[in-house]
Amino acid sequence: MGRLDNRVAVVTGAAHGERAALGSHFAKALAAEGAKLVVADLKDCASVAGEIVSGGGEALSVTVDVRDEQSTRDLVAATLARYGRLDILVNNAAIGSNIPPVPVLDLDVRAWDELYAVNVRGPFLCVKAALPQMRKQKYGKIINIGSQTMYLGLPNRLHYVSAKGAIMAMTRALARELGPDGICVNTIAYGLITSALTEHEMEQDPAHKARVFGPRMMQVHIRVEDVAGGLVYLASPESDRMTGQCLMVDPGSVCL
Ligand SMILES: NC(=O)c1ccc[n+]([C@@H]2O[C@H](COP(=O)([O-])OP(=O)(O)OC[C@H]3O[C@@H](n4cnc5c(N)ncnc54)[C@H](O)[C@@H]3O)[C@@H](O)[C@H]2O)c1
Repeated sequence: MGRLDNRVAVVTGAAHGERAALGSHFAKALAAEGAKLVVADLKDCASVAGEIVSGGGEALSVTVDVRDEQSTRDLVAATLARYGRLDILVNNAAIGSNIPPVPVLDLDVRAWDELYAVNVRGPFLCVKAALPQMRKQKYGKIINIGSQTMYLGLPNRLHYVSAKGAIMAMTRALARELGPDGICVNTIAYGLITSALTEHEMEQDPAHKARVFGPRMMQVHIRVEDVAGGLVYLASPESDRMTGQCLMVDPGSVCL
């Protein structure tokens, strides 16, 4: 018996990718605990859904643009048509892991708006689309994906860092608004995930590696295999008395 048997989960940004592709790992971890999955992305998620199904789980692949209100409504409609309920929403889709550093005076307003449309408006629209069903069920788990950068104040990525700050503020405000409906809203925030690409980048640039590892209480990498434990916890009934919080998975870089 899994910890998420009979639960239905939507994970945005769940396609396979060149970088961390955390969404695909989250989706597989939720499925391994018995959740029925909807994997959604601008890109095709069929291969991720296929992996879940070959592993004995259930999954539906949906194309979504989280910037677009109708598209997020269609995502929820497809979820309900397939499974009849929606318990877990993981707001993972984002522009982020590969944006180059840029000083504030050179940060283009279009880049700012484009990032906010995905990273802030996207989670808002997904919540708006999912909420009527969660309210009807009197149960829901909304999990937003944050970043340690919002606490560390990482320089030269003001749009990304401030958008993650907005996500944490949204988590608190929504948690208070939706608490009476039995809906938990939490953020899980990560430090830099080590993928083959980011490991190579750190090897090429020891100062960058020192910046990443310097604040960590544990001098260890965070690999994709390490990210799902906290997320499954936030999706499961084990965290039913936890809302409005931020769970840090960053080897001790930030103490809240
Ligand atoms: N990788 C890290 O080191 C790290 C660290 C902390 C937090 N995070 C956060 O984790 C999450 C996942 O990061 P990742 O590194 O796996 O990123 P990624 O770039 O590998 O994946 C992001 C996914 O979002 C999708 N996406 C982008 N715009 C979209 C849109 N408009 N509609 C639907 N889907 C869209 C992309 O197609 C992609 O598949 C993000 O919220 C990121 O900010 C990542």
